[in-house]
Amino acid sequence: MSAAADARRVAEAAALAGAAAIRAAGPARRVQHKSPIDLVTEVDLAAEAAVREVLERLSPGVPVLAEEGGGARGGGPVAARWIVDPLDGTTNFVHGFPAYGVSVALERGGELLAGAIAEPLTGRLTSAARGEGAHEDGAPLRVSAVDRLDQALLLTGFAYDRRERAGFYLTFVRAFLERAQGIRRAGAAALDFTHIAAGRADGYWEFNLAPWDVAAGLLIVAEAGGAVSCPRGLPVNIDQPQILVGAPAVHAAMLEVLQPLLDAVGWPAAAAAPAPG
Ligand code: IPD
Ligand code: CA
Ligand code: CA
Repeated sequence: MSAAADARRVAEAAALAGAAAIRAAGPARRVQHKSPIDLVTEVDLAAEAAVREVLERLSPGVPVLAEEGGGARGGGPVAARWIVDPLDGTTNFVHGFPAYGVSVALERGGELLAGAIAEPLTGRLTSAARGEGAHEDGAPLRVSAVDRLDQALLLTGFAYDRRERAGFYLTFVRAFLERAQGIRRAGAAALDFTHIAAGRADGYWEFNLAPWDVAAGLLIVAEAGGAVSCPRGLPVNIDQPQILVGAPAVHAAMLEVLQPLLDAVGWPAAAAAPAPG
């Protein structure tokens, strides 16, 4: 088995353990606020503990960066690290809106090697190993063949600074409302990536994500034949992710729409640049 396939197997086991912990926990009883709108529950913590337990057992010694407990941040010489979102879509989970999942990925030598996203409600498991394709419940995935923006279903999301920066986010929503077939905001970045990889939607953009929101999803989309970049068309900085992914022609069309808008808001032409306020 290749190193990537081996890592995928571990990612799948860890993501499934997180999903099982979420199912076992039932509805959230203790909801705390990391910010006025950024929530964390005892279920996020239980899922993270379950994921960490599997990673420590099957991949001993490899550092873990996970949303709630922190850990191996980038920027330094980390040879390899697991990147974990134990419950992506916490707001949905708290409200009982059925879109959330567990995301686990391995980054090695600055490259994403494997990733898995498990959905507690459906049991669906989506995963990828670098160079070996992406799969959903064992079936190979391919992005959609849609090649026109006016026929594209787009996905997006809004980071937790959305109250302060609603105008910034709405600039892009407006532009794509005027050009695409439709836009959805379902509230779980990891699942948004799976929809692109499976061809259920055609393009996805989001600003100001975190490493754990994107690590598994980026690899899954790339391995399903999708185009993956920052909104400037440059490589994604996994530690400060700004993302644009999609079926290749839709991605190209979205890039064209985005450039003048990014210029107009003074967005720097560098992959790592944070959004200007
Ligand atoms: C959030 C979700 C949401 C996205 C936010 C993320 P969380 O993750 O993925 O769709 O728009 O930017 O922070 O907090 O539910 O793990
Ligand atoms: Ca998340
Ligand atoms: Ca989370």
